[in-house]
Amino acid sequence: MSFDLLLKGGTLPDGSVADIAIKDGRIAAAGKSIASDAAETLDISGNLVSPPFVDPHFHMDATLSYGNPRINASGTLLEGISLWGELKPLQSEEEIERRALAYCDWAAAMGLLAIRSHVDTSDEDGLKGVRALLSVRDKVKDYITLQLVAFPQDGFYRSPAARDCTLKALDMGVDVVGGIPHFERTMADGRRSVSELCEIAAERGLMVDMHCDETDDPMSRHIEQLAYETQRLGLHGRVAGSHLTSMHSMDNYYVSKLLPLMAEAQVAAIPNPLINITLQGRHDTYPKRRGMTRVPEMLAHGIRVGFGQDCVLDPWYSLGTADMLDVAFMGLHVGQMTSPSDMQRCYAMVTSQSAAIMGLEDYGLEKGCKADLVVLDAGNTIEAVRLRAPRLFVVAGGKVIARHQADETALSVEGRPASVKRRV
Ligand code: FE2
Repeated sequence: MSFDLLLKGGTLPDGSVADIAIKDGRIAAAGKSIASDAAETLDISGNLVSPPFVDPHFHMDATLSYGNPRINASGTLLEGISLWGELKPLQSEEEIERRALAYCDWAAAMGLLAIRSHVDTSDEDGLKGVRALLSVRDKVKDYITLQLVAFPQDGFYRSPAARDCTLKALDMGVDVVGGIPHFERTMADGRRSVSELCEIAAERGLMVDMHCDETDDPMSRHIEQLAYETQRLGLHGRVAGSHLTSMHSMDNYYVSKLLPLMAEAQVAAIPNPLINITLQGRHDTYPKRRGMTRVPEMLAHGIRVGFGQDCVLDPWYSLGTADMLDVAFMGLHVGQMTSPSDMQRCYAMVTSQSAAIMGLEDYGLEKGCKADLVVLDAGNTIEAVRLRAPRLFVVAGGKVIARHQADETALSVEGRPASVKRRV
């Protein structure tokens, strides 16, 4: 049989070595020593071959806007939200689309081929972003799966137009129902918003992903309501709580009740380590809280966790590269997940676990899966995280869309020329 592309001798995330053959945009065969003709053969022996990176939490309507119209001086979440409010009326649909497409180029080059992006649906200005990102979703569909979440950033009840605009966005084809209960005027309104938004999702057969309890306030407990509504409406496995940072500060006894409720409802968690460590604890003196939710404890309860990136160069975050290995690296540190098995789990949280949260079909390296993958200049997943390893090849829909030369530095010290490569 003749294949379009054959990758020889790569190391899979589970440590096994296999050849991967691709035909018509699908993985046609995967296993030991596939002998066949192929239009192109890549010898990737010694390198990690992985399903693509997946970002389950991003804001593509705000990305690459850093400094426009000003920077976030305090660095807080709340100043970020008001700065976003200043930027929204100033930006055009075309500008949002141009920035989003530029970001998608960054993402594709990094092997990040599936992204769940929230898009502001607070008001008519937000709908510019909805129209722009629906267009982007279509334009990048051959190489990036873009899933959109209707996100009433200024509060589903707190912003007068948010309810109408959120429903309008869903009518226009936005995929997932979002929310922000901790930003409503009262705890009661927050709870009510969780209930109504989950009912909207149940009626329309959609998934739910809410910004939930993104605060240091230990009494912000909307995740409890989210788990309850998931159970009541039978939305098991279709609901995620993003951030959940208040859980970092909650009473331990309460959390011992909460985590089993989340597990029972199959509510997934999406922490965003880069942003959580940056934005949370800003009102603390010392010791300062880290703010990231309780990842190892959730995993111990069987709760699915995926790490998200959240922001790149926008009103909330002044850095970022579209590299999900940066996200895994930070999550590993903040969560103190340093055992070999925990480090491997951190890699899974930016690949397979996030793919499962997004409900991606045909994701993986098995026969029949969509031929999306990334080859890294690393021997295994832990080394990939340690090095934030270069992506040697990115394959999307069976085609090589990015190529990179292996990183190596020529060093000369004490008259001893050497070649430095950080792999072991
Ligand atoms: Fe977010």
